[in-house]
Amino acid sequence: MATVLFPQFQPKIVKDKTGEEILVRQYNHETDREALIEMYEKYDPDYRCLGLPPLTRSGIETWVDYLGKNGFAIVAEKNGKIIGHLVIVPDERNRVDLTIFVHQNYQNKGLGQEMMKLIIEYCKKAGFDGITLVTERSNTRAIHVYRKLGFEIVAPYHEFDMYLPLKK
Ligand SMILES: CC(C)(COP(=O)(O)OP(=O)(O)OC[C@H]1O[C@@H](n2cnc3c(N)ncnc32)[C@H](O)[C@@H]1OP(=O)(O)O)[C@@H](O)C(=O)NCCC(=O)NCCS
Repeated sequence: MATVLFPQFQPKIVKDKTGEEILVRQYNHETDREALIEMYEKYDPDYRCLGLPPLTRSGIETWVDYLGKNGFAIVAEKNGKIIGHLVIVPDERNRVDLTIFVHQNYQNKGLGQEMMKLIIEYCKKAGFDGITLVTERSNTRAIHVYRKLGFEIVAPYHEFDMYLPLKK
């Protein structure tokens, strides 16, 4: 695992497509861990992707702790609750691997795209070469969002590997 120093993320209030204001800010594993686990405990299994999030509390804890140790994350917050989580984990090639989950009650309102745009700008400023991600071929909504933001499918197998280069 590469040792990477992550710059501070500037918090931002974004508006979803209904005009609702949502705070997007940096995740703090010490203070936000419980609220993030709560979001995933309440997450509708119908909206899992690639076996994530895990289905049990202990599975969620292990996953969240792994990401907290190895990655950098932003969260969307509404009324003190975490409703969206986007995490990047750096690799040895100066790229980051991205994972995003928006709580089912807030999906398809533009929040995912807003979070993605913010992390793309953040990754550019942080000097990463590109963003990789994997999704399911059947996840047409996620694929639509990723393509709209410039990601290309680089390995079209059972899963789709997608990549967004950040440097020319
Ligand atoms: C994928 C995800 C992160 C996207 O975030 P979101 O806030 O729901 O998405 P947005 O509202 O920003 O954008 C959805 C876009 O997809 C389009 N869309 C919705 N359903 C669609 C479908 N079934 N097929 C294709 N496009 C679809 C919408 O029209 C919108 O595009 P537009 O703005 O060009 O009109 C979110 O839906 C989610 O968490 N899904 C479940 C977990 C997941 O799949 N995570 C991805 C990692 S594998």
